Amino acid sequence: MKLNPFAKKTPSPAASPEAVIPSTNLSSVSPLSRGLVSVQDVIAPPAIDVDFSHLKIGNTYVRTLFVAGYPRYVSANWLSPLINFEQSLLASMFIYPVEGKSILDDLRRKVAEMEAEIATDIQRGKVVDPGTQAKLEDAQSLQAQLVKGAERFFQFGLYITIPATSLAELDQITKEVVATLGSLLIIAKTAVLQMEDAFKTTTPVCIDHLMVTRNMDTTSLATTFPFTSSELSSSEGIMYGINEHNGSLVIFDRFSMENANMVVFAKSGAGKSYSVKLEALRYLMFGAEIIAIDPEAEYKNLCEAVGGQYITFGFNSPAKINPFDLSAVYEEGENELPAKILSLHSLFKIIMGNLTASEEAVLDRALILAYRAKGITMDPATQKNEPPLMEDLYKSLIGMEDQLAKGLADRIEKFVKGSFRGAFDEKSSIELENPFIVFSLRDMEEALRPIAMFIILDFVWTRIKRNLKKRLLIIDEAWYLMKYPDSATFIHGIAKRARKYFLGLTTITQDVEDFLATDYGKAIITNSSIQILMKQSPAAIDKVADTFFLSQGEKQLLLSADVGEGIFFAGSNHVALRSVASPEEHKLITSKPEEVLRMQNTPLPSAIPPTPVPIPPRNSTLNRPLPYSQSSVNGNSSSPQTPISPPPTAASPIVPTPQTSANQSPPPPSTAPRFVVEPQQ
Ligand SMILES: Nc1ncnc2c1ncn2[C@@H]1O[C@H](COP(=O)(O)OP(=O)(O)OP(=O)(O)O)[C@@H](O)[C@H]1O
Ligand SMILES: [Mg+2]
Repeated sequence: MKLNPFAKKTPSPAASPEAVIPSTNLSSVSPLSRGLVSVQDVIAPPAIDVDFSHLKIGNTYVRTLFVAGYPRYVSANWLSPLINFEQSLLASMFIYPVEGKSILDDLRRKVAEMEAEIATDIQRGKVVDPGTQAKLEDAQSLQAQLVKGAERFFQFGLYITIPATSLAELDQITKEVVATLGSLLIIAKTAVLQMEDAFKTTTPVCIDHLMVTRNMDTTSLATTFPFTSSELSSSEGIMYGINEHNGSLVIFDRFSMENANMVVFAKSGAGKSYSVKLEALRYLMFGAEIIAIDPEAEYKNLCEAVGGQYITFGFNSPAKINPFDLSAVYEEGENELPAKILSLHSLFKIIMGNLTASEEAVLDRALILAYRAKGITMDPATQKNEPPLMEDLYKSLIGMEDQLAKGLADRIEKFVKGSFRGAFDEKSSIELENPFIVFSLRDMEEALRPIAMFIILDFVWTRIKRNLKKRLLIIDEAWYLMKYPDSATFIHGIAKRARKYFLGLTTITQDVEDFLATDYGKAIITNSSIQILMKQSPAAIDKVADTFFLSQGEKQLLLSADVGEGIFFAGSNHVALRSVASPEEHKLITSKPEEVLRMQNTPLPSAIPPTPVPIPPRNSTLNRPLPYSQSSVNGNSSSPQTPISPPPTAASPIVPTPQTSANQSPPPPSTAPRFVVEPQQ
């Protein structure tokens, strides 16, 4: 027996079997089968009450809407508000291919009619109806596309059934759905007096009983594809935050991209450092090592809580970096000195300002002399010797007895004997062994910060190359470095080569203009697979929009974003993201002065997570107080891991972008697809 809840009700066979079931049928159905309960009997509703504008199926009220009018222009994935509607809905789409030839005949007639109408208006001295003009243009362009075979022609029907538990609720949801569709310029109407047919149309049997269709070309039809997922959830990675569009989690492993670099742009206080600290904390748990350059001492709480190494630079602090350090790993045939001298040239150009060609030549000679005085030459075997210090360079410049050299020596004198003495004129005293290291520059004078950042970066880069580990290098307030072409080149160099050393470079900057003003800034963005944009100022938005090819919707989102909100770009995927931290994480990473003050009165948790840390056996050699599993840190870092999760392939519909899901054909280019005129009108 086939279930047909819409068939005319038949009296129960038990009541008057002869009247309903012909005797031939009766004999063919065995009394046993007649008495059995089938699946249909179990799942069928007890009754269906058909009203003018709704059905009552069992205890559920349903109402079906048909779509009578569509907007003229739509963007990709325009139906997503309907698909992501907070109540469950049944939506059916019917697509009928139409033969091009008959459409062309209709179109020709329609075009002729409209042209005649316009010509008559002009003859009579009337103003031409702009609506007719627009329709004519649409019809003509469609005609051209159909003739060329670039587009095909379809009819499209869209029906939506709304279920609800009461009539009042049904009315309410109907209003909401109609309003949602109205905001998309879609006109939806209730299928009054056709409820039964309309409901059947949205059941998954693929029969259109209403046939309310609209003409569409291929491009327009493609945009109705509603399943352009806005998810960016991989099976591996860390949580970056919540997808603002549908509340799903954005889980992602940046090491699964072609490179693990990231840039973060936003205005001050938008939540850049916050989200990067959150990321660092979470990556630390997954065995990555974190090195951060922190000009504002923002990472201190976090660093102390995870048992990291917090290095401050200043006149009296014990931390020293010798910018002349060589990596001291001897690799067959690798001569490190020329590269080092090149990077020292960049450093001294930042320290000394612009140099003339002759000054550069003198500096070059002095550098080679300083190394030679320590027995270090172009022979790689000598490069394990103790490297020179700033003082040695100063001495070799003085010793050259040349006016130019004297001038250069004067310019670095303050580092050797003057006020800048202390941090960079002694033997390096830092070892990068802790999995969480922060270099703080807060105690350093403003003028020294770019120099210090350069020296630290160079030092870190030299050490990173020594042994391969999964690492994140965070440069907060990177605009300090972008101010100087030499340091900008250096960061660009790191961004380009980081991948080979299993390093993800994170560049944070609030001064977007400065960053984008240089070609190196743009190149760093190009070399970063992940980009996070948070709240932007109106002054900067156009530049940002041009650089990141933002759509109008994305621009609006960035202008009106709240703290912690932004857009997360991973390759070609865009997701509107809100970074969220647990209360424990928030305590460690917030930099709001009032919160920091409040916390100074209440001591910080000594370690996170607050769950009990397993106590090692007495003779255990667990020697570091890191609250995260040390073994996982070491275990993962010894050999580079290749993340196995595929990069997610979805695009966010909240900010309509040209790309949709990966398994979908690319959507139309810059111009928005268009619905076409009704030729039969
Ligand atoms: N996602 C978030 N959730 C809750 N609070 C946040 C979030 N993001 C930022 N905040 C709050 O805003 C403060 C400022 O954020 P943050 O320090 O990240 O600013 P910033 O963009 O780095 O600014 P600056 O460029 O001035 O350093 C944080 O200390 C924190 O209290
Ligand atoms: Mg910051």
